[in-house]
Amino acid sequence: MEKKMNSKVAIYPGSFDPLTKGHMALVERGLAMFDTIIVAVAESRSKSPLFSLEERVALTREAFAPNKKIQVESFSGLLIDYAQECGVSVVLRGLRAVSDFEYEFQMALMNRKLSKKIQTVFLMSDLQWMYLSSTMIRDVALHGGDVKGLVPECVFTALKERMQNKS
Ligand code: PNS
Repeated sequence: MEKKMNSKVAIYPGSFDPLTKGHMALVERGLAMFDTIIVAVAESRSKSPLFSLEERVALTREAFAPNKKIQVESFSGLLIDYAQECGVSVVLRGLRAVSDFEYEFQMALMNRKLSKKIQTVFLMSDLQWMYLSSTMIRDVALHGGDVKGLVPECVFTALKERMQNKS
């Protein structure tokens, strides 16, 4: 995607295993502050993701396809290195509840220690999606619960297929 001169760009990183409606709402709201948001799907190998990196990127791309201001990429290694490669100095993250704070605070401070050039900007999650997490979605889907409406349609289908193949 071509970047405008002086355009404001942020990176929204995460494992997105899988992408939820909570992530999507946050990115949409982020576009009130940024011209372009790069949704950066982390390899997150240590987390043994349910979906491969390629699958997570493909699903995330499909979900955001109608919006040209949202670019979906993957990265491995340190987030600050990826941000520097992209020439982007803002990392966008969502905060749901107090329980998120410690982890997010640690991560933001570690990133700042690693690079003074990167600033982390937090947006509060929508009240509607406050309880939602990828972990919760995986767990509910794994146990046969209905996650319709909580994830984009492409993710819903992919989860259904993955669960059918498991049984
Ligand atoms: O959706 P997640 O799993 O909470 O996202 C965490 C993520 C991917 C943003 C974080 O683990 C990350 O930035 N990983 C890349 C490696 C890195 O830079 N680690 C140091 C930052 S603490």
